[in-house]
Amino acid sequence: MLLILRKTYEDLSQEAARLVGDRLRRKPNLVLGLATGSTPLGLYTALIDKCRNEGLDFSKVTTFNLDEYIGLPRSHQQSYHYFMRESLFKHINLDSRHTHVPDGMARDIEAQCEWYEQRIVDVGGIDLQILGIGANGHLAFNEPGSSLGSRTRIKTLSERTVRDNARFFTSMEQVPRYAITMGIGTIMEARELLILASGESKAEAVRAAVEGPITAACPASICQMHRRAYFIIDEAARSKLTQVPVEEVTGREYAAPGYQSLRLGEPSEIFGERRAHERT
Ligand code: PGA
Repeated sequence: MLLILRKTYEDLSQEAARLVGDRLRRKPNLVLGLATGSTPLGLYTALIDKCRNEGLDFSKVTTFNLDEYIGLPRSHQQSYHYFMRESLFKHINLDSRHTHVPDGMARDIEAQCEWYEQRIVDVGGIDLQILGIGANGHLAFNEPGSSLGSRTRIKTLSERTVRDNARFFTSMEQVPRYAITMGIGTIMEARELLILASGESKAEAVRAAVEGPITAACPASICQMHRRAYFIIDEAARSKLTQVPVEEVTGREYAAPGYQSLRLGEPSEIFGERRAHERT
């Protein structure tokens, strides 16, 4: 696990875009796992910019989104289909036939989930999965208590998540209570995980995920078991970490017990050759 600290949300987004851009240049037919929510928006804006101004080429990329609400049509402004179209897909040279978002209107949800899992296998697995983290530690819609080995399935959203999402809807009654989500087991099979967290509201979840025990009570803590998991977080989101020395934010790279953290511009850990001492 690698913890990458950046000062601001903008810095975090740029760093994440650098990593995605690097992976895409190395593998033009990258299979990219995507997330919704406010956190990856800065990353998507940066990727759009790279596509337009640096020629970053998405034409051979395949994408899989983590989740979708059940019962919202694709045209609904709060659906994740809509979100992805507006925030990323329509702005880059991605072939829409290569994009996948679970179908929350599917008649047979179980069959839809199985199909989704199979599609991921058919294209050779996800190379790089982008993730946000919920204030309650959820990963995608794998709420606390979710099986750490779970696969794509229907999930009931926690009260906390419903409350957090309420800001996007005009009334509580409209907030979806169910979603299709990739499982934690599905997510863990991605070759690399890129977890983004910004702001004080995520600080406790980041602490639990990075420093806490591995537990279904904090699904994001499973990232500790992944050999290529990178957290990119800003200063506010790291504010509750207890194992990170203060000097770290002033620019020194060092290894802390159990994980490494570094201040970028020291990007070599995730770009290019890995250092001999790196633990993953
Ligand atoms: P957010 O959501 O990016 O809108 O904070 C992240 C999540 O709930 O996974």
